[in-house]
Amino acid sequence: HRVPVAIVGAGPAGLLLGHILRAHGVDFVLVEHRSRDHVLSRIRAGVLEQASVDVLDRYGLAERLHTDGLVHGGIHLQVEGRRTHIDFEDLVGRTVTVYGQQRVVEDLMARHDELGSAVFYGASDVTPSGVDGDAPRLEFRHDGEDHVVQADFVIGTDGYHGVCRGLIPTEILDVAERSYDAAWLGILADVAPSTDELIYALHPDGFGMHSMRSPTVSRLYLQVDPTDDIANWSDERIWAALQERLGTAGWTLTEGPITEKSITPMRSSVASTLAYGRLFLAGDAGHIVPPTGAKGLNAAIADVAMLGEALAAANGGSDGLLASYSRRALERQWKIQYFSQWMTDMLHTPGAETPEGERPFRYRSRVGQLAYVTGSRHAQQTLAEQYTGLAIE
Ligand code: FAD
Ligand code: DHB
Repeated sequence: HRVPVAIVGAGPAGLLLGHILRAHGVDFVLVEHRSRDHVLSRIRAGVLEQASVDVLDRYGLAERLHTDGLVHGGIHLQVEGRRTHIDFEDLVGRTVTVYGQQRVVEDLMARHDELGSAVFYGASDVTPSGVDGDAPRLEFRHDGEDHVVQADFVIGTDGYHGVCRGLIPTEILDVAERSYDAAWLGILADVAPSTDELIYALHPDGFGMHSMRSPTVSRLYLQVDPTDDIANWSDERIWAALQERLGTAGWTLTEGPITEKSITPMRSSVASTLAYGRLFLAGDAGHIVPPTGAKGLNAAIADVAMLGEALAAANGGSDGLLASYSRRALERQWKIQYFSQWMTDMLHTPGAETPEGERPFRYRSRVGQLAYVTGSRHAQQTLAEQYTGLAIE
């Protein structure tokens, strides 16, 4: 089998890239090692930048998003019980859309089904090779059959734990990383959100956040120690901590049945290149951010918007865009890394790694930072510009 593009990994990046290529008439094969149900069951991001919605619109993939997505004109930033509304529409004339990553993935999969795209779920022994030469291959096993795909390009949209990044020799690849001494405990609850827009709160006990998935499903997060175990967190303890951290005068957080809970560590990581020979990386395969700025999914969408256009141009004989893809995507990515780190540091209490004697200073300076950001139109504009998303060029 021969196709121009072989894609590894059917998360949002791989699924969307397939649609972009198809729109340009470029044939592809997409291979995912998990089952379709497994991919659909992963609860992850929830906020789409305006720029991401525009990309989905451009390729006719946003029909249900426009029906079911919740357009938010801002967020609430809270510090020690004082809540301030940051009005994105007023500050920068842009909005974000709350629409779960699962729904995005579901929509992209459904459209691939309709189009009869070559998407293989539940593949095993997924092995890309030859990306440093002229004849890259992607081998895999599916439904008891061995497949060999010859392609012009192999694309790694296989996430942080994927195989593609490992094809780049260690002499060439550097990965710049930072870990955080905080993790997020996230829950989904069958209860109407108690807020119109997302609440990000700093409290002496740690970060707390109120997000949502729909008018009847709430998504909430708590900062916990990275070594903590979800078994230590009963539903009662979770709600009590959320009540404490999100509480403010004259407002009530309505509780409801918790349907999912898990702890996710936070990490920043950026590969020094997203291109090696005929291999290109996009999304989490190339970089990850801590979740606080809601950037992971959006960065993946931006990458494939750029990469899809570049691959289409290369397929038509013009490879300038492809040659500059890694540089352009990483330039944008490092701005996102800075913003995500800024939001994360500002909104979390210093964790176990902070010297005991410095903890009060570091905490009070974050309270000062939030007091400045919530009190300054200039600072609010900076936050709003980045939160609603940088241009994809
Ligand atoms: P992924 O979604 O990771 O997709 C990669 C795909 O490749 C997966 O389907 C995987 O099964 C597949 N794959 C891996 N290895 C192979 C292989 N060898 N062969 C074939 N297929 C393979 N972002 C936010 O903005 N807000 C959040 O709240 C948030 N929460 C998150 C919670 C968790 C637990 C995680 C892991 C991420 C979270 N993120 C969040 C980040 C966001 O979800 C990711 O940035 C986004 O999923 C990136 O999409 P992707 O397609 O690049 O990677
Ligand atoms: C969600 C996750 C985030 O990281 C964020 O900043 C906002 C919302 C969410 O899952 O809803």
